[in-house]
Formats: sequence, structure tokens, C-alpha cells
Amino acid sequence: MNPQGLLSFVESWENAGAISKGIALGVVLGGGYFASLVLYAIYNVFLHPLRRYPGPLLWRAFRVPYVISIHRGDIHRKMKRFHDEYGSVVRIAPNELSYVDGRAWKDVYGNRPGHLPFERNRTWFKKLSPDEPHSIMGYDEEAHTRMRRTFVNSFSEKSLRDQSPVIEGYVELLINKLNAFATGQQRADNTVDLNQWLNYFTFDVSGDLSFGESFDCLRHGKAHAWVEIAQDFGKALSLIASINLYPPFHKLLRYVIPKKIMQRSFDHRAMSAAKARERLSFESERPDFVTPAQKYNKHKPSIFGSEWEINMAIIVFAGSETAGSALTAVMRELVQNRGVMSRLTEEVRGAFEDASQITIAATGNLVYMNAVINEGLRLDPPVVIGVPRLVPAGGDTVCGQWVPGGTYVAYNQFAANRQSRNFSHPNSFIPERFINPDTKTDDMTSLQPFGIGRHSCIGTKLAYAEMRLVLARLLFAFDIALADETDRWDWGEQKTYILWPQLLRVQVRVPRTSARTGGLLSHPPPARSAAIHDFESYAWRYQVKWSSSAKKTEELLG
Ligand code: HEM
Ligand SMILES: *[C@@H]1O[C@H](CO)[C@@H](O)[C@H](O)[C@H]1NC(C)=O
Ligand SMILES: *[C@@H]1O[C@H](CO)[C@@H](O)[C@H](O)[C@H]1NC(C)=O
Repeated sequence: MNPQGLLSFVESWENAGAISKGIALGVVLGGGYFASLVLYAIYNVFLHPLRRYPGPLLWRAFRVPYVISIHRGDIHRKMKRFHDEYGSVVRIAPNELSYVDGRAWKDVYGNRPGHLPFERNRTWFKKLSPDEPHSIMGYDEEAHTRMRRTFVNSFSEKSLRDQSPVIEGYVELLINKLNAFATGQQRADNTVDLNQWLNYFTFDVSGDLSFGESFDCLRHGKAHAWVEIAQDFGKALSLIASINLYPPFHKLLRYVIPKKIMQRSFDHRAMSAAKARERLSFESERPDFVTPAQKYNKHKPSIFGSEWEINMAIIVFAGSETAGSALTAVMRELVQNRGVMSRLTEEVRGAFEDASQITIAATGNLVYMNAVINEGLRLDPPVVIGVPRLVPAGGDTVCGQWVPGGTYVAYNQFAANRQSRNFSHPNSFIPERFINPDTKTDDMTSLQPFGIGRHSCIGTKLAYAEMRLVLARLLFAFDIALADETDRWDWGEQKTYILWPQLLRVQVRVPRTSARTGGLLSHPPPARSAAIHDFESYAWRYQVKWSSSAKKTEELLG
């Protein structure tokens, strides 16, 4: 009851005797509420169909600790600790199980013959208004199928080949801009916020390929208004999602989300729709995401009216922050692990004689590059916590254990990729583990940074292409180091709101030895055929000494 209500309640009982009766009533009501909470918790812990699944007591009893943790941004570290303590399945809320066992991928996200698909829950993906169109990211499987069928044409090998010159053009621009920092024209100390520039790049590419025009973040050296708002979205989304999960609270949503954020999100949607409409208004042979989809739609109508607009906006968002986060994470690991940086630089500078040779096609075969990217995706997965699915009515098995219908289930990548059960030295950046994988210590099949199944990432090939190209061009053109050598920490120490905040201040320099052999190689890397156990000694020998911040991480992450 609010204070005013209480006041008029008191006023309406005109004598003290009545007030004392009122207090008694309040105590009874309050006591009743408390008692029902206790009963609710007792039910969840002792009688609920999930009672046999292990997990921390408060989390099994109430959804509240989960919601609080999402808001604090430490859910990934909590999950990691819980899985260390309770094993590969943990009950993290009265009606939710978290998995870090690789077999769960197929059961939860894949299509199992003879089993119903596990779908997204409508509560999670609730529309903001009833007339909002469906999207490729929505819960509606029918709409998803026809949209996926259309857009998959925009992400094929052939489309990627057509789009390559566009992407290569933006990388050229990125390198030119960074060159001004490397030569000291921008700042005397040659430092630059690399995270920002990497995000400018991914947003410019997505904007060009979706809306037919660049956001021009790279050109102006500053985030476009659309981009700024999009970058705030992660936090707003996690807020919405975590509250929607918890029925009595979802009605509070419009009070807890500041009006300004709601307004910004509506403005953003309007801006996106206008941009998308502009691109869709003409047919062309532009090598982008729209042309192949429009062609398909023409002979097999699958996407209608405003569905186009929302899908274009979603694709821009899905393809920018994720790839920007992956690139920033890999670069941070590289500047913090000089041995790996040397080895990768050697590979890149050994493979090309001139920057003009570095194309999307030409970077496909860099073995160590691929290992570095995969290790970055393992250690610092851009999609931190799993997107939950709902076990269909009637229940089903996951990892061989029965789960009742209506339970939320998710594979949590950060917790999974950092557990010592499945990876040796799980918190260390060791790309060598991908070159000679030891299936006894490292469970590579459990790594699925792009998800699996009908909802898996549609932009996987494009994402790898962008990452390889950018990293190769950066390392070919510059010697890159931390701006402040003490600014070392584990990516997982950050708070996360669906996405990572990403901070990376570096110093860029034009290599003294006109590229090629790279004066960087003070530690010659071991031969590529090195046996798997070499990577441990390799890591310890060549990595800059395990810093105190890394120790802090070990404490934080258990
Ligand atoms: C390193 C970069 C990226 C990572 C780690 C990543 C990760 C993911 C993951 C895990 C999903 C599945 C979500 C789920 O299961 O519910 C997903 C879906 C999706 N991603 Fe990506 N993504 C990346 C880059 C991109 C790019 C570059 C694009 C496009 C330009 C893109 C577009 C999409 C779309 C449209 C979906 C929804 C697919 C569907 O539901 O059918 N992503 N991504
Ligand atoms: C979402 O999940 C909750 C909990 O299982 C369930 O009560 C609700 O009906 C689901 N919503 C929809 C629309 O399926
Ligand atoms: C990974 O962990 C799961 C349990 O979470 C275990 O069954 C599996 O054997 C592990 N894989 C490896 C290679 O150790």
C-alpha cells in the first residue's frame, strides 16, 4: 500500500480503537503474505518437479536472486561458480535449469527426430505492442521459418563474395584512420580507444549492407546517433527480459524502465523503419543483405510490409555489437599475451607482402588466425549467457535426464567455456589448443559461439570473414600494445548486460622494420606441430607473467 492510501485508511477509522484494529489487520495480512512466501519457497524446494536438480537454495526457492544478479551484471560469474560447485546442470531459478554439458546443445537447440522442438517463450520475447510485426529473432516459429528462408540468401557464400569489396573498403578506411594515430598526428602518445573504432567498423558495415548507407562512424570518428542508442540496448533488453520472466513483476516494467529509455527505444525504432524503407524503396544489384532477399521474395513472397523494417533493424543490431565485442576481446587477449601476438603477427606478415593482398578470400587459410579467433570466442563469448528455450508440454529429456514441460533450459557459454572439467587452463588464452586438440582435456564439441539448430547465427561466415580481415590488416599495418601496461584484466571480470562493455585503450605504431619480419618477435614461437601439452609450457613461458589481476580473476571465477 502506498503512503497516501495508508493515510486515508487511518483517517477513515476515526478512533484509536479502530486504528489498533487496523494494525492488527495489517499484521495478519502481512503475516499471511509472509506465510504464503514461505509456502511458495517450501513448495519450490521440496515438492516442485525440479526438486532433484541441485542449485543454491535461495535461487531454487525464488526467481528474485536471478533478477538481481542480471541487474548487477554478474550473472556470468555466478553461473560459473554454481557450475563449479553443483556440476553440469544447475537449477538457477524455481523453473530454470542451466547447462554446461556439451550434449545439451543438441537437446535444447537442435532438432531431435521424434522430439518436439524447444521454442522460445513468449514471455521473454514479448512484443512491446500487439501490432508489432514478427521478426527473425521472435518466438513465432512459422514466421521465423519463412524469414530465415528469405534472409539465408543474403548470407550465402556467393553473397559474401559479392559483399567482400564493401567490407574491405571499410577496413581500408579503418586502417587509414588508425594510421593517423600511429603516426602521432592525432595524439602525441599514439594511443587510441580501439574498442570504439572496432565498433565503428562493424556498425558501418552492417548499416551499409542493411540500410544501403553507412552510419559514417569511421569517417567522422564518432558514433552515429542510431549507433549510440543501439549500444544502450543491451542493458535495457536484459532489464526487460529479466523482469518479464517473473510474472508478478512484469506489470511494473513500465515504471522501472525510465521513460527516457522507452522513448529512445521508440525513436530508435522509427528511425530504423525510415532507414529500412528508404533502402527497400528501390531495387538494385547493390551487394548487400537486401538485394538477395528481395530477389527471393519476388518469386516466393515470404516477408511482408513492416516485417522488412523490423528485420533489417534486428540484423544490424545482431551483427554489430557481437562482432565488435569479439574483435575487441581478441585484441585485448593479444595485447595481454605477447607470445600469441608475436606468433600471429609472424603468420600475417609472412603470408602477405603488401596490404593490398589482404582480402577476405586470402585470409581464409591462416591457420593460427583461426585458432586465435576461436580461442577468443571460447574465453570471451560475445553471447555471454544462453538464450533460454522452454521444454515443450509433456516434458522431455536433456542430457539423459527428465525435465518437466514448461521448464526454461539454457546452455550458458561463459560458464561452460571456463570450467576446468572441459578445458585445461580454462581461464588462459591459448590458441594452440585448437591446432592440436587433445580431446581428453579439451572438449571442442561443446564450443558453439554461434549456437546450433534452426536459430543458429545466420551471420557466422560473415562474422569470421570480418574478424579475420580486420585482425590481419591491423597486425600487418601496426605494432599494437596496451596504452597502459597495468591495464590488464580478465575479460570475465567485467559486468555484463547481455553484451560486454568492452574497453581497450592501446598504443599503435607503424612497425620499424617496414612490416614483414616484425621486430616484435623477441620470443620465437614454437613449431606449429608442437604437441598439445606444449601449449601449457608455451603459455607459461611466453605469456607476460600472470598478473595480479589474473589472480583476482581466479578468485572471482573460482
Ligand atoms: C562474433 C559474432 C557473432 C556471434 C558470436 C553471434 C552469435 C549468435 C548466436 C549465439 C545466435 C543464436 C541465438 C539463439 O540461439 O537464440 C545468433 C543469432 C543470429 N545472429 Fe549472430 N552472432 C554474430 C554475428 C552476427 C552477424 C555478423 C550477423 C549478421 C549481420 C548476425 C545475425 C544473426 C541473426 C539474424 C540471428 C538470428 C537467427 C535466427 O534466429 O534464425 N550475427 N548469433
Ligand atoms: C512462458 O513460460 C511460463 C512459465 O513456464 C508459462 O507460464 C507461460 O505460459 C509461457 N508463456 C507462453 C506464452 O508460452
Ligand atoms: C566435459 O564435461 C562433461 C560434464 O560436464 C563430461 O561428461 C565430459 O566428459 C567432459 N569432456 C571432456 C573432454 O572432459
